[in-house]
Amino acid sequence: MKAIVCHELTGPAALRLEDVPEPRPGSGQVRIRVRACGVNFADSLITRGQYQAQPKPPFSPGFEVAGEVLELGAGVEGLAVGDRVIAMTPHGGYAEQVVASASRCVAMPAAMPDAHGAAFPVVFGTSHMALWHRARLQAGETLVVHGAGGGVGLTAVAIGKRLGATVIATASGTEKLAVAAEHGADHLIDVGREDVRARIKELTDGRGADVVYDPVGGELFTASLRSIAFEGRILVIGFAGGTVPQIPANHLLVKNVDVIGLNWPAYAELNPRVMTESFQILLQWYLEGALQPYVSAIYALDRATDALDRVVARKSTGKVVISVD
Ligand SMILES: NC(=O)c1ccc[n+]([C@@H]2O[C@H](COP(=O)([O-])OP(=O)(O)OC[C@H]3O[C@@H](n4cnc5c(N)ncnc54)[C@H](OP(=O)(O)O)[C@@H]3O)[C@@H](O)[C@H]2O)c1
Repeated sequence: MKAIVCHELTGPAALRLEDVPEPRPGSGQVRIRVRACGVNFADSLITRGQYQAQPKPPFSPGFEVAGEVLELGAGVEGLAVGDRVIAMTPHGGYAEQVVASASRCVAMPAAMPDAHGAAFPVVFGTSHMALWHRARLQAGETLVVHGAGGGVGLTAVAIGKRLGATVIATASGTEKLAVAAEHGADHLIDVGREDVRARIKELTDGRGADVVYDPVGGELFTASLRSIAFEGRILVIGFAGGTVPQIPANHLLVKNVDVIGLNWPAYAELNPRVMTESFQILLQWYLEGALQPYVSAIYALDRATDALDRVVARKSTGKVVISVD
């Protein structure tokens, strides 16, 4: 079978399409025929050895796939050969086949296209866990979403609206802001042209935002801290901008601010019950038509590097997906 393989931890440019042996499912695992794989910013981090999990080469990137079950490992119950599933994988999704733990597979709704299935778990799962479970966002609160045209950011806009918040979206440029507006953002801030801190204050009548969702870090984190409301919560989602914020604790004290970390994949191991509950809510919202994955580009497997480049180069909106025929 074919797979995109990382042999050295020097970044996406070194990824190669190769023939590799079919994977065998171990106990509690299933082998999946991959139909589509979601592309994530973190796929580039894992090819540099800079992600939390650091598999040794050779390995394939790819944290989320949609496909059919081809084979069941020992002891697997509740899944059958031929079932269409969405699966989370530690890596390995950039391939024609992958093995996944049966506990990290969910049945894909019959009407859900493969590209939607592959674009669903990481971004919606992360934003829902962050806003619902960690920040406990309430209807009527004001939510600021940074990187709102990107993968996780766009889902935070949609989920924030679904939870009843007023959403202020920040992004670079009119195209990304337009996508955020299509997904429900009430107010838009162009980070390249406007003073983010001043605009948030202005849009909240000087009060500041109740919750900030930050997948970017750097100066945007500083602007968030300076424009957060009394008892506001800042969600630390990622550092796509490349700078990990250093937090002056005195600011937290003075304004009664919570800074809340989120490591979504950790829930699979450390609190699977809440992850399952979150996923059920999200799939229900999808079936009701309240959430729609936004797939802005689809690439064939042999162009996986181009797909990842598009995300890393800030050229993508929403999700980029690899289609595996
Ligand atoms: N905590 C978790 O469990 C979790 C889960 C999933 C993802 N993440 C993290 O969240 C972050 C975003 O992931 P994503 O998949 O949404 O990525 P994405 O689609 O590439 O979106 C990231 C956004 O960050 C902004 N950005 C600002 N400076 C950037 C830079 N130098 N390079 C790239 N982007 C930059 C871009 O928006 P503008 O161009 O509009 O500024 C871009 O749209 C990543 O750090 C990822 O690792 C964390």
